[in-house]
Amino acid sequence: MIRQSIFGALALALGAVSAPMSGAAAQTAANGAMPSKGEYLARASDCVACHSVPGGKAFTGGLKMGTPLGAIYATNITPDPETGIGGYSLAEFDRAVRGGVAKDGHHLYPAMPYPSYAKMSDADIAALYSYFMKEVPPVKLANKPSEIPEKLAFRFPLAIWNALFTDSAPYQNDPGHDAVWNRGAYLVQGPGHCGACHTPRGFAFQEQATTERGAAFLAGASLDGWSASNLRGDARTGLGSWSAEDIVAFLGEGHNRDGAAFGSMVDVINNSTPYLSADDLHAIAVYLKSLPAKGSEAPVVYNTATTVALRSGRFESSGAEIYAANCSACHGADGKGHGSYLPPLAANPTVLDGDPSSLINITLNGGQPLVVKGAPDGYRMPQFRLQLTDAQIADVVSFIRAGWGNGASAVTAAQVKALRATTDPTSDQVTILKMR
Ligand code: HEC
Ligand code: HEC
Ligand code: HEC
Repeated sequence: MIRQSIFGALALALGAVSAPMSGAAAQTAANGAMPSKGEYLARASDCVACHSVPGGKAFTGGLKMGTPLGAIYATNITPDPETGIGGYSLAEFDRAVRGGVAKDGHHLYPAMPYPSYAKMSDADIAALYSYFMKEVPPVKLANKPSEIPEKLAFRFPLAIWNALFTDSAPYQNDPGHDAVWNRGAYLVQGPGHCGACHTPRGFAFQEQATTERGAAFLAGASLDGWSASNLRGDARTGLGSWSAEDIVAFLGEGHNRDGAAFGSMVDVINNSTPYLSADDLHAIAVYLKSLPAKGSEAPVVYNTATTVALRSGRFESSGAEIYAANCSACHGADGKGHGSYLPPLAANPTVLDGDPSSLINITLNGGQPLVVKGAPDGYRMPQFRLQLTDAQIADVVSFIRAGWGNGASAVTAAQVKALRATTDPTSDQVTILKMR
């Protein structure tokens, strides 16, 4: 039961979007003021993604997160003394953010990623606290009560969950690695909470590993209709074929020569990683590149047979025909895309992923608007849920997975049908948050 409820809460929390851009974001960009250390950390931790709703003010909470027991809502964390966290001392703030316990002593659901934030340093928690108390404007807005029925709203087992699964110690530098690697490890494991999405969950919905010492760490997980890809060194389905520069470009600009962010990664790009310094993005890339592969995969060897057949109009399957009619204008008959805005499908880890959820989902529903530091990306993957049937989507996706030497397994119409039923067409709403 805990597993299910936590899963639901997290999945929905992660699929959620944030509030639209308002004047102050533009203002910040315009006056170019350096963010304080606390604001920088709030960006790195993406607090805005959950503690805001579309159309609402930053950090006022209200985001609904469904669980099978009933919905819970993220809370107002502006410094309003009555409805927000204005009454929190530094110690109480610390206990909430790193320990998962609210001021009044109740345990927070791990939809709040405190198991990751637990690795943040004392100094960083103090800087975050100062930012929330002094720079975030207080907004009076009452928290919405949880919709979990009284008799089920039994938070006590979370204390046991914490004792079993959370390592409450801040990150310790690993002397076997240099300062850059350690900075990357800190950002990924701590504030960035990358593992909350990218690490597979265990029987009680705990992350199976929280450091590089576990082989499951960042090995890929499915959530809310997307596959949060494997970030380890695997040659086909991981980041083995990406250089450190490719990773920096993806996190800093939302796309690179091999792909663009979509699904719940859009929240991370729109509100968090592009605001990190070049040094910090580089440190993250160095750390990710140090993670060994989880298996042994032979890299894709590009094969021109698919291109030749498509160009000569010899469609050997219905998938090839659908591809030529609907996809090749943007992704190319050669499957190589165009530049860094129209991604290649040949040798692309998203296409090769053992879990085809992202591939099916983006074909059904399209991409979300990417807005990198206030600048909207001009290109966007269109949705095909209205134009193509389940069988047609299965055919075209299977064609892409097999073509150009990709050699990945086919998907079925039943897999498409299941995702069609549980996902919605992506919204056009811009999801950028002002922070001050
Ligand atoms: C993935 C979603 C998510 C992110 C990211 C997130 N939170 Fe939360 N947070 C929640 C949820 C959900 C709750 C309420 C949990 C509950 O009711 O059990 C919460 C609760 C809290 C509370 C307790 C509030 C209260 O009203 O007593 C504080 C403080 C808090 N978060 C601060 C932060 C800060 C600071 C950050 C960034 C460093 C952050 N959160 C990032 C989801 C998130
Ligand atoms: C109008 C141009 C266009 C068309 C037509 C198009 N796509 Fe895309 N596609 C994109 C763009 C742009 C992206 C990058 C994601 C984004 O920004 O939304 C993308 C991303 C993708 C991705 C994810 C790649 C990654 O790793 O980022 C897949 C898979 C994909 N498209 C498959 C298809 C399929 C299958 C079709 C035909 C049914 C198709 N696309 C038709 C523009 C297009
Ligand atoms: C809210 C959930 C979520 C969080 C948090 C998150 N990611 Fe992702 N990430 C995803 C999903 C879903 C995808 C797959 C879609 C895509 O490729 O954009 C993805 C894709 C990626 C990719 C592209 C992989 C590929 O093969 O195309 C990289 C790199 C990445 N994430 C790095 C990170 C890092 C580093 C962090 C922490 C700073 C992070 N992510 C945090 C959900 C998340």
